[in-house]
Amino acid sequence: MSKAVILQCQQLTKRYDQGDLNVEVLKGVDLTIHAGQRVAIMGASGSGKSTLLHLLGGLEKPTSGSVILDGYHLNKIGSSRLSRLRNQSLGFIYQFHHLLGEFTMLENVAMPLLIGKQPIKQAQQQAMELLKRVGLGHRIEHKPGELSGGERQRAAVARALINKPKCVLADEPTGNLDSKTADQIYRLMLELNQELQVSFLVVTHDPDLAGRMDHVLHMEDGLIV
Ligand SMILES: Nc1ncnc2c1ncn2[C@@H]1O[C@H](COP(=O)(O)OP(=O)(O)O)[C@@H](O)[C@H]1O
Ligand SMILES: [Mg+2]
Repeated sequence: MSKAVILQCQQLTKRYDQGDLNVEVLKGVDLTIHAGQRVAIMGASGSGKSTLLHLLGGLEKPTSGSVILDGYHLNKIGSSRLSRLRNQSLGFIYQFHHLLGEFTMLENVAMPLLIGKQPIKQAQQQAMELLKRVGLGHRIEHKPGELSGGERQRAAVARALINKPKCVLADEPTGNLDSKTADQIYRLMLELNQELQVSFLVVTHDPDLAGRMDHVLHMEDGLIV
């Protein structure tokens, strides 16, 4: 039996126009991610990987083509509906953790729930459980600056998953870590993928890490080859 399609794009193109200079970054990308699937994207720097993730995450609009998230055409819904859909259905992990320095780990991880208007007690309870799950139960009152790079990235994984999203989009999530720590983050992502049946789309330069996913896609000059 085939699993539900969570995220899909069809003939996706993106062009940046700067005066006479047109940069065609994506040239017609087709991609389908099913429930619980783990997909890696590899490719040279500048091939369009981050741009693709931005478009899939509804952070930027395509020049042409469509993105369908959980059954909704992103270019056919209004911006407040889009924000809500993004908040409910997607998690994001970046190369740099993007945790807020002024807030504790508990507050950082609870943030997407608070943005989604959950009561604070309930949000903190869930954040606490997930922080324990990623091995940071003893760190909840600390601020990001007091943790190691690996700990911060584990917290970023927790934050991406706190909304029980359908799919996590990760852009070089271990690019800033040593190989042992990167390995731990990958293992954690794969465990959570199994436990929660969350799909993962992960950009990485490491063939070893990519090889642990279900599929490896290669981007070259704005196309998946
Ligand atoms: N806002 C922008 N304006 C113009 N060009 C851009 C913009 N964002 C990205 N690009 C260009 O798009 C290409 C692909 O970038 P990117 O998606 O970041 O590649 P990757 O993540 O694979 O390294 C690069 O040539 C980059 O310079
Ligand atoms: Mg990039």
